[in-house]
Amino acid sequence: MRILFTGGSGKAGRHVVPYLVAQGHRVLNADLVPLVAAGVQDLITDLTDPGQVWGAMTSLAGFDELEPGGGVPRFDAVVHFAALARILIKPDCETFRVNTLSTYNVLEAAVKLGIPKVIFASSETTYGICFADGERKPQYLPVDEEHPTVPEDAYAMSKVCNEATGRSFQARSGSDIYALRINNVTEPEDYAAMAPVWRATPEVRRRNIFAYIDVRDLGQMVECCLRTDGLGYQVFNVANDDLSVALDNAEVRERFYAGVPVRREMGPRESFYSNARAKELVGFAPHHGWQ
Ligand SMILES: NC(=O)c1ccc[n+]([C@@H]2O[C@H](COP(=O)([O-])OP(=O)(O)OC[C@H]3O[C@@H](n4cnc5c(N)ncnc54)[C@H](O)[C@@H]3O)[C@@H](O)[C@H]2O)c1
Repeated sequence: MRILFTGGSGKAGRHVVPYLVAQGHRVLNADLVPLVAAGVQDLITDLTDPGQVWGAMTSLAGFDELEPGGGVPRFDAVVHFAALARILIKPDCETFRVNTLSTYNVLEAAVKLGIPKVIFASSETTYGICFADGERKPQYLPVDEEHPTVPEDAYAMSKVCNEATGRSFQARSGSDIYALRINNVTEPEDYAAMAPVWRATPEVRRRNIFAYIDVRDLGQMVECCLRTDGLGYQVFNVANDDLSVALDNAEVRERFYAGVPVRREMGPRESFYSNARAKELVGFAPHHGWQ
């Protein structure tokens, strides 16, 4: 597929873009800074500017595309990862502005250009736990996509808003628009330093619902979504199968989730961040567990 990828120079994108190239896709990376990766054309683009988004979405993906002489081909899909990826990078109102405006611009251009699929990064933070003021527990376990999303911080609010924008553009266009509620992104090189911390101080994982997603498995999830057509508007939790602590499921519940209803029997190492829908609908099968 010919793919416009936004935010490919960031923590997640710098792994997911090469993963997609390795699957045989052609990728143009639209970001404020270059990725500089083999086989990937960078296009410096400010996605808060709708004109620049329009230009990127109708761009060549490399000089070689001039050779056939048939004009610029249409992108088959857009993967939109660019964002201010948490609170406390810029002031809250700027985080909200950049994230909602860039996502609106991307979705509007994709839909109006007839691009049949958009996959965009939402976040675990939509559940309101990650950046809560003080401690907030899930309303039930495991946390699935039906769990309420009423966060109180600007970053997560922007992601909830983006999900509403995606749902509305899908209703108008009939395109496939899939939102990925990505959990805490981890890179293979993180584990050496993080694993001892995760083992010794499980409380540091509370705000991530004791979950995580390895970037290699995130790449696989994006590929699964590219391969699976016809689902309309969808929201998927994206996390690995296991807990990001050395405790087992029952020990974590006893220590951190007293009083939280558990809706079904859970496995001894099973994540509280349910990836069942991703497995069922697009065939997600993570296999890069941190341990
Ligand atoms: N890192 C995580 O743990 C995590 C968890 C859940 C969801 N997410 C989401 O996944 C996506 C990728 O996250 P990440 O960790 O790679 O973030 P990152 O901050 O490492 O990368 C984001 C990229 O977006 C680019 N960008 C920012 N504003 C832009 C603009 N106006 N125009 C063009 N490009 C712009 C940045 O230059 C950067 O390369 C984000 O949407 C983030 O909100 C991340």
